[in-house]
Amino acid sequence: MAFPESRPRRLRRTPLLRAILQEARLAPEDLALPLFVADGITEPRPIESMPGHFHHTEASLLDECAEVVDLGIPMVLLFGLPGEKSERGEGAWDDGGAVQRATRAIKSRFGDRLVVATDLCLCEYTTHGHCGILAGETVDNDATLEAYCETAISQAEAGADIVAPSGMMDGQVGAIRAALDDLGHEQTAILAYSAKMASAFYGPFREAVDSTPAFGDRRAYQMNGANLEEALREVWLDIDEGADMVMVKPAGPYLDVVSRVAEESSVPVAAYQVSGEFAMLRAAADRGWLDHDAAVMESLVSIRRAGAKLVISYLAKDAVRIANRASANSQTPPQRG
Ligand code: PBG
Repeated sequence: MAFPESRPRRLRRTPLLRAILQEARLAPEDLALPLFVADGITEPRPIESMPGHFHHTEASLLDECAEVVDLGIPMVLLFGLPGEKSERGEGAWDDGGAVQRATRAIKSRFGDRLVVATDLCLCEYTTHGHCGILAGETVDNDATLEAYCETAISQAEAGADIVAPSGMMDGQVGAIRAALDDLGHEQTAILAYSAKMASAFYGPFREAVDSTPAFGDRRAYQMNGANLEEALREVWLDIDEGADMVMVKPAGPYLDVVSRVAEESSVPVAAYQVSGEFAMLRAAADRGWLDHDAAVMESLVSIRRAGAKLVISYLAKDAVRIANRASANSQTPPQRG
């Protein structure tokens, strides 16, 4: 009778053996939580397509940040909703806008205990929902860069540690780096949404910020999700233009892209588990079709295993709580049977 020569199961026998040998891990420091802050509301407003997430007032945002800090999560990514949208999206670089005010408030309350990254795009601010300034029915790349530079300056002046341009305009990282340096903001870092795919998984987010394009779609600037080589080119362009970190987005459906970018990038890599990935998990768990906690951890650890240093996720707080509960349970002495 032939027995197996190798028995990998020996090392899977007990929880401790499995813990010792776990390769990829998810720590609170690996996570960033996206948050929405709105102008012109007096109470936080639940986002229907994203249970547990809100349009925050400045006050409720600060409460949320306090929870984030308590959980050991080091970073938030802010999105703003203006009181009123406009054709050119001027709200994005309004020094008194929701994101700018919130950034000031967070930095003055938490200082270096919380890293503030600000999403830098026009789509939440334009009446047509596109990510830049229009020329006819197309987004004018270079006119948009000027608006991005204004926005970057306004966010840096408010105290953002990191600006995160997400509009996929050519040359956005270089233009923003130059504009920031010109005004003495050479310490403001750039997290570039480098390989941002034209994805169906942004659906709930667009509902949340009412940014579904009024006509057409974003395929003339966001990437074709079928392309890996092009993702690597985009990453290298952004690194050459001065990106301090690069991002792949969405994460789950693009783990191969995360993995290749992590292998080849000379700067740290972030991956964004987007609203649609969150919504799928939550919807299935709410129906009892998936074990919520197990599926959440599996999805996030997989993004780490693929090579992302930073995981941006709407589930960041849930993940830390799930991990804390698990370690509390494992410290309870085993019951005698
Ligand atoms: C803005 C932006 C988007 C997301 C992040 N930044 C929306 C888009 O491109 O439509 C999506 C986030 C998510 O789905 O969670 N350009």
